[in-house]
Amino acid sequence: DWTSDAFAETTIVDLKAQLGDDKVVLALSGGVDSSVAAVLLHKAIGKNLHCIFVDNGLLRKNEYESVLEQYKDFGLNIKGVDAKDRFLSELAGVEDPEKKRKIIGRVFIEVFDDEAHQIQDVKWLAQGTIYPDVIESVSVKGPSATIKSHHNVGGLPDFMKLKVVEPLKTLFKDEVRRVGNTLGLESFILGRHPFPGPGLGIRIIGEVTAEKIAILQEADHIYIQNLKDAGLYDQIWQAGAIFLPVRSVGVMGDERTYENVIALRAVESLDGMTADWCHLPYPVLAKISNEIINKVKGINRVVYDISSKPPATIEWE
Ligand code: XMP
Repeated sequence: DWTSDAFAETTIVDLKAQLGDDKVVLALSGGVDSSVAAVLLHKAIGKNLHCIFVDNGLLRKNEYESVLEQYKDFGLNIKGVDAKDRFLSELAGVEDPEKKRKIIGRVFIEVFDDEAHQIQDVKWLAQGTIYPDVIESVSVKGPSATIKSHHNVGGLPDFMKLKVVEPLKTLFKDEVRRVGNTLGLESFILGRHPFPGPGLGIRIIGEVTAEKIAILQEADHIYIQNLKDAGLYDQIWQAGAIFLPVRSVGVMGDERTYENVIALRAVESLDGMTADWCHLPYPVLAKISNEIINKVKGINRVVYDISSKPPATIEWE
């Protein structure tokens, strides 16, 4: 029967045989799948694996720096690309969620393609595709995290002409985690909640601006940190904060405020297809709310989302 040790061992041998001395390029996202794929490939072909990690400016607070650091510690040959400004300027003025998704997907491909061109003689594109992605290659709301389904019609980017290697494509998520564990990946990466490819871009309702990103990153950071401190993070399938384009009246000292609202979402789920809202303890919610309102400038109200999926989705956009 299946063991993660045996899987890792045979896959590394197979990858060596399949790839020989060829160069391979892979987009790292900070997520479980691409990370495990990268480490497997790294064990097989070492420096011939070229990883690219794009900062789209829509990641969680400090995420880009800390994830990049982890990958470097792992010895991965990785290039971080700061493309924050490019994403932000392309998103200016855009309010529609599907348009935002398309823009983020397209700009990602452009940035990745430019970077892949810098690598001489690259022959393969590696992807962290897992079995459920193979069955359902496009997510419910549009482009999924895989590069393939992102591509638009205006001609294929050059990296898509590469041969594709997908070492995880027979595995389910829990098996990917077990393989990651076997390979020595830390819970910092293995235990993290799913995070959508378009990131905070679809957790800011309406137009995305640098100011809103900064506010949401702070609020989300306080939220997630408190869930960790309370020992709740690992029991939750996915949690995150949402920036609402709604202003409400408040009072701070003896001054009237008129500021934005943050919504908190936390769900229990097995596969993201259905989900129940988490019954977080009131004292934890109270602490999070206080901290966000006191520390995050621009927010004077916090609400908790008590909707399950269906009919509500996990993300608000
Ligand atoms: P929904 O909101 O449809 O989300 O209930 C189900 C799961 O999918 C994630 N999600 C996305 N992931 N690109 C992604 O890579 C997307 O455009 C996208 N939209 C939703 C969501 O975070 C949840 O885990």
